[in-house]
Amino acid sequence: MTAAPKGLEGVVAAETEMSFIDGEKGILEYVGIAIDDLARNSSFEETVFLLWNRKLPTKSELAAFSADLRKRYALPGDMKQRISTLPKTAQPMHVLRTMVSMLSLFDPDPNANDAASAREKALNILGYAPTIVAYFDRHRKGLPLIDPDPKLSFAANFLYMLNGEHPTPTMERAFDACMILHADHGLNNSTFTTRVVISTLSDVYSAISAAIGSLRGPLHGGANEGVMKMLNEIPSVGDVRRVVEDKLARKDKIMGFGHRVYKNYDPRATYLKTLAKKLAEDTGNVSLYEKSHAIEQIMEEKVAAKGIYPNVDFYSATTYHCIGLQLDLFTPMFALSRISGWAGHMLEQLEGNRLYRPKAEYTGPHGVAYTAIEKR
Ligand code: CMC
Repeated sequence: MTAAPKGLEGVVAAETEMSFIDGEKGILEYVGIAIDDLARNSSFEETVFLLWNRKLPTKSELAAFSADLRKRYALPGDMKQRISTLPKTAQPMHVLRTMVSMLSLFDPDPNANDAASAREKALNILGYAPTIVAYFDRHRKGLPLIDPDPKLSFAANFLYMLNGEHPTPTMERAFDACMILHADHGLNNSTFTTRVVISTLSDVYSAISAAIGSLRGPLHGGANEGVMKMLNEIPSVGDVRRVVEDKLARKDKIMGFGHRVYKNYDPRATYLKTLAKKLAEDTGNVSLYEKSHAIEQIMEEKVAAKGIYPNVDFYSATTYHCIGLQLDLFTPMFALSRISGWAGHMLEQLEGNRLYRPKAEYTGPHGVAYTAIEKR
């Protein structure tokens, strides 16, 4: 048996009609529409409809879908109280994973995964997730919890619950664009996790909470926090070269660079770079953008020949900081959006399910006699 490529690189493990990536050319499309076009012209709600239905909605379909989602902002049962008793030191990604899992306890039929039930539960989780994150953030800061406002868009409602005031149209738009850009991305690790879990015909809650666990890792969605930590560690733009060169000499990874699939500029980073620059100027964070830009220039000089360019996480760090998000909320933001992609893949998987069950190549010994414990 030949061993699979390490990290399953290049292995096609599922079919999808949701997103297409050409890593050589730096192309990402959702259902055939370029990501840049969607980021400029769509809304997150419309993008979710597109991913789940593989077509853009009509005006009335979008209104119905948005209304349906907004009905699901308020948490079931006593989850609000439960969040307000969590340890304030807990990390938001662990809170989100645990609370998504807990949602199953309030569902009278948690295991139902026929197409209609799975879609219903996915929409619930998508609606509830921002409320979980915002409630917890305010709880840990000792602030009163702000209930969701079903009149608001996904983006505006989240920022309202978090900050206690309505976002400016610029901030709402910027956050909405981030949600669009992070929604789906082929068979990335957390999406594969979702498909693997649901392929056992397990339940939606198990599949999505497992995906949140996968996304948290620093090689995946956790990289945006890593980028911000790196930017904070660099005193000024004049120190960038020294820090980057030192890291590369130590063979440290520069967070927010490199991608298994993109060997060219990640098209999401193209959009985010422009957005980050504008927000940095508007919010007095120009030095953050300048440091980022300087890192990119040095990386271009040093490693672009290896196909290492900024990925989605690089400029999303500056963007989220300028939107006013605390560092440990960066990865949860990725999750709030990617729940839509996970759910879409889960629905696709359920449509034509076959259990994922690859093989491992055994590399250990054979025919070893059992040795009694006293003789070892
Ligand atoms: N900084 C410096 N060198 C790098 C980087 C980086 N960020 N990424 C890859 N390389 C080098 C790596 O050292 C190796 O060099 P050599 O061949 O000389 O040993 C070569 O590029 C191949 O790297 P790899 O780690 O084998 O590539 P991979 O496909 O397994 O890893 C990756 C992809 C994203 C895990 C990796 O690029 C990385 O660790 N990047 C930093 C973390 C990061 O930004 N992750 C977010 C990914 S995008 C969002 C998401 O999908 O979650």
